[in-house]
Amino acid sequence: MALYRIATISYYTQYMDVLLLGASGRIGQRTATELTDRGHAVTGVSRSGTVDGVEAAEFVAVAGDATNADDITKLATGHDAVVSALGPSDDESPEVLTEMMEAVIDGLRRAAVDRLVWTGGAGGLKVGPDTMLIETEDFPEEWEPIARAAIDAYDILDETDDLKWSYVAPAALIEPGERTGAYRTAEHELVADEEGDSYISMEDFAIALADELEEENAVYTYLGTGY
Ligand SMILES: NC(=O)c1ccc[n+]([C@@H]2O[C@H](COP(=O)([O-])OP(=O)(O)OC[C@H]3O[C@@H](n4cnc5c(N)ncnc54)[C@H](OP(=O)(O)O)[C@@H]3O)[C@@H](O)[C@H]2O)c1
Repeated sequence: MALYRIATISYYTQYMDVLLLGASGRIGQRTATELTDRGHAVTGVSRSGTVDGVEAAEFVAVAGDATNADDITKLATGHDAVVSALGPSDDESPEVLTEMMEAVIDGLRRAAVDRLVWTGGAGGLKVGPDTMLIETEDFPEEWEPIARAAIDAYDILDETDDLKWSYVAPAALIEPGERTGAYRTAEHELVADEEGDSYISMEDFAIALADELEEENAVYTYLGTGY
């Protein structure tokens, strides 16, 4: 069952120091903006240490490699929570996502940070009682490797019970778009509209990540998002 919410205004007042992995990415940049607009202090990580498109005094960009647990330990230390918008580069095997997941979990443990909100994939969400989105006939073949890697990364997280994790997946389709503040969530299920279309803008997905970080409604959960 999907939950509907309209969240244009956040009344959250407990500001956090957040380490944002993948801050230079398409979802990451929007997440950095959403979090800083809410008053959180954000340290944004990319491999180069450069993050374009985020204009906020409470934002600092730093360099780090998310496949390296030592880097994650150093970077995460002193933060209240870690948010990931990590994704493999086009020239890498999608399975590097599982390396990132292992390094991030290890690094958080060593840094004594116990909250992780991870941007996942929609492929492992249910579209029927026994069917995942990735198993459907129409699932694009070119998306299969990254969708499989995202499911493998989820399986690693699902074995983890000493961190308060949330695995938040976009809709089947996510693109740059409008920040409407209205979206729905469903635990382990794909969120689709009445026509069966599953979509969310990157701006609204960033709201969903920030809401989950603040409200902890889906700890130890694979959460689908969409309209
Ligand atoms: N429908 C769906 O299920 C769906 C659709 C879209 C995206 N997603 C998922 O959402 C996530 C983010 O997507 P996106 O489109 O925003 O990705 P993106 O634009 O490619 O951004 C990926 C980010 O990860 C960073 N990164 C990659 N390797 C790294 C490493 N070793 N160390 C540190 N940072 C690293 C990149 O930073 P640098 O390259 O600057 O270092 C960049 O900031 C991905 O996991 C993707 O699979 C799911």
